[in-house]
Amino acid sequence: MKPLRLIIVEDSEDDALLLILELKKGGYEPDHLRVETAASLEAALNNGTWDLILSDHALPAFSAPEALNLLNKSGKEIPFIIVSSVIGEDVAVSAMNAGAHDYIMKSSPARLVPVIERALHDSEVRAERKKALLDLRESEARFRRIAENALDIIYRVRISPSLKIEYLSPSVEAFIGFPADYFYDNPNAAFERVYEQDRHILEASLKGEKLFSKPILTRWVHRDGSVNWLEQRNVPIYDRVGRLVFVEGIARDITERILYEQELKKNHARIEALSNRILGAMEEERSRLARELHDELGQALTAVKLDLQLFNEGLSASQAQQYSLKQSIDLVDHTINLVRRQSVSLRPPVLDDMGLLPAVKEMVRGFMNRTGIQTKITADGFSRRLSKSVETALYRCVQESLTNVVRHARARNVSVRFNKENGLLALSVADDGIGFEPEKMEVHSEHIGLTGMKERVKLLDGCFTINSAPQKGTTVSIKIPWQDRVEGEAGL
Ligand SMILES: Nc1ncnc2c1ncn2[C@@H]1O[C@H](COP(=O)(O)OP(=O)(O)OP(=O)(O)O)[C@@H](O)[C@H]1O
Ligand SMILES: [Mg+2]
Repeated sequence: MKPLRLIIVEDSEDDALLLILELKKGGYEPDHLRVETAASLEAALNNGTWDLILSDHALPAFSAPEALNLLNKSGKEIPFIIVSSVIGEDVAVSAMNAGAHDYIMKSSPARLVPVIERALHDSEVRAERKKALLDLRESEARFRRIAENALDIIYRVRISPSLKIEYLSPSVEAFIGFPADYFYDNPNAAFERVYEQDRHILEASLKGEKLFSKPILTRWVHRDGSVNWLEQRNVPIYDRVGRLVFVEGIARDITERILYEQELKKNHARIEALSNRILGAMEEERSRLARELHDELGQALTAVKLDLQLFNEGLSASQAQQYSLKQSIDLVDHTINLVRRQSVSLRPPVLDDMGLLPAVKEMVRGFMNRTGIQTKITADGFSRRLSKSVETALYRCVQESLTNVVRHARARNVSVRFNKENGLLALSVADDGIGFEPEKMEVHSEHIGLTGMKERVKLLDGCFTINSAPQKGTTVSIKIPWQDRVEGEAGL
């Protein structure tokens, strides 16, 4: 049984009961109130919720048109059906026009249930449509609230059949100096404000060319003459036959970001030039010191040693004096070796004379002698001389890597590999030591070894990576574009 709350506008108790019986037969469980005056209908409408009103056409003190009028005034949407013993065609039509759903004759009560069912169904559909409309209005209002307050510029442009701006958020004014209305009135004004060189980008995007897949960047001229950058994300809307009808999108003023990026680029270039100069000056200073140590100090010490030896031979001194002279000659000898070693380590002549590989071999030999760490060099298909700057940079990288092995790695074996792959020169220095976590290393003025290597490699357009983990050893890898030596080249 379907519950049904209804008002019956009827002066005859018996007629009302007949209707109730008919409803019960039709599967309803009616809960009804019978009224026969305007006042009682008004009270019923005000005090309850109702599914249906059945109304006799003419009562002694009331009528269906008056009841309908009251219902309309109440603003409630309740299906209203006239049930009458006599009703003329013209009266029925005017009642329907005034909002009655239907009418039936008391003489054919069998129509009652189907008519009610249709009326209830219609009323349900109407209520749903009304709710959908309200939801739509609410969602439009919500969209507008968001769009009107957004800092970004939100827009919808009709492309076909002719250009028309359907929506443009007010934030456009802050960006361009003109209010949205200015563009509503003259959509082509938008094109006039785009920086001339960038106009084709906007045109292509609005024509639906492939630029839709990524944001477009254009410059726009503000009313005050300044030029600002806009990043736009456009979404195409096509009709059923695939024709572009609308373009919707969001645009953002990114002028500050672009200026910041340009500044950042300039700073990077400045820093790069500076570190290039510093590394160059450092290398020059090392060469000068090496030469001075070797030529000046080394030769002076050799002269002292020769003099002492001559002095020793010509002298008939006491045994004690001869012993101390011999000690002095040994000390000078030791110092000469020290000076030579220092001079070589500052700038090994073999690097300039023979090239990278022989110089690294010599370095590794010295490294093994001093530390006892087993070190292997492999150099597949690599024997050529490289440009001086590359040879110096790679030599210094191997030197720093080996120094790190001694200082930090506690390794037993090291492998230094050179090889040429796909036009790149690859160098790696791998140890089997305690390793570390490179991602946790912060830039610190006390640890400049790795940073210096990175910097040198970057200056050669190369790529520097370090692979390490606790107890997993460390591998430093460098890849740089292959550069053969060019004669007469000025390098580091
Ligand atoms: N082969 C390695 N094995 C283990 N730890 C390493 C290795 N190489 C570098 N490290 C770690 O990385 C840190 C940074 O190395 P980096 O060469 O930059 O600085 P440093 O050797 O400490 O000082 P310097 O500036 O004199 O080179 C080291 O302090 C060490 O903790
Ligand atoms: Mg170091």
